[in-house]
Amino acid sequence: MALIAPSLLSADFLHLQRDCDMLNASEADWFHLDVMDGRFVPNISFGPMIIDFIRKATTKYCDVHLMIEEPEKYAEAFKKAGADNLTVHLEACKHLHRNIQQIKSLGMQAGVAINPHTPVDTLRDILKDIDLVCLMSVNPGFGGQSFIGQTIYKIKQLKEMINEQLLNVKIEIDGGVTLENAKLIIDAGADVLVAGNTVFRSPDPKAIIQQLKAL
Ligand code: DX5
Ligand code: ZN
Repeated sequence: MALIAPSLLSADFLHLQRDCDMLNASEADWFHLDVMDGRFVPNISFGPMIIDFIRKATTKYCDVHLMIEEPEKYAEAFKKAGADNLTVHLEACKHLHRNIQQIKSLGMQAGVAINPHTPVDTLRDILKDIDLVCLMSVNPGFGGQSFIGQTIYKIKQLKEMINEQLLNVKIEIDGGVTLENAKLIIDAGADVLVAGNTVFRSPDPKAIIQQLKAL
């Protein structure tokens, strides 16, 4: 059964407490929190201050997706804000191994995200050091985009690589996940599904989460 991680990027920030309460009462497994700096991606979202508030509104696992340059400058701030997991982008890290060690030494789980154009092969030598790979199935920066079909092959390749190395690394799929494509994504080998618009643009988000969970 896949874990469901609704992305708060699509929440109503004037009613953040209400949306957190809704997720708390739902079958959602994780909160997915998208941090954007206007440099690595062409959009700006929120940072540790908002995550600190969200942390106080839930006991669920906070999965923080950093779409920022120089993540090492902020890792400690995100730990203090209550992140359980910190995912950095391979494309944003000159010294990825060092960044991962930093996240681990701060006591968080560590993830690496790759953009749609980045081959999964680039992860081969870091896999054993991390807990999660976030495969971007859209170009990062915005919610509500369409799923890039090629991701299905990348999930299968990555799954093989993880199994070959006898590792226990989770595969998370981020972007364009819908009720229509979720089954295909899970069957390909995904462990965690991020869903923003599919959950928050629905008149009944809890029912959508339940349906995703039941797949
Ligand atoms: C995109 C973010 C995603 C986004 C997903 O850059 O990383 O987490 O919120 O939104 P949907 O599910 O609407 O594509
Ligand atoms: Zn994300």
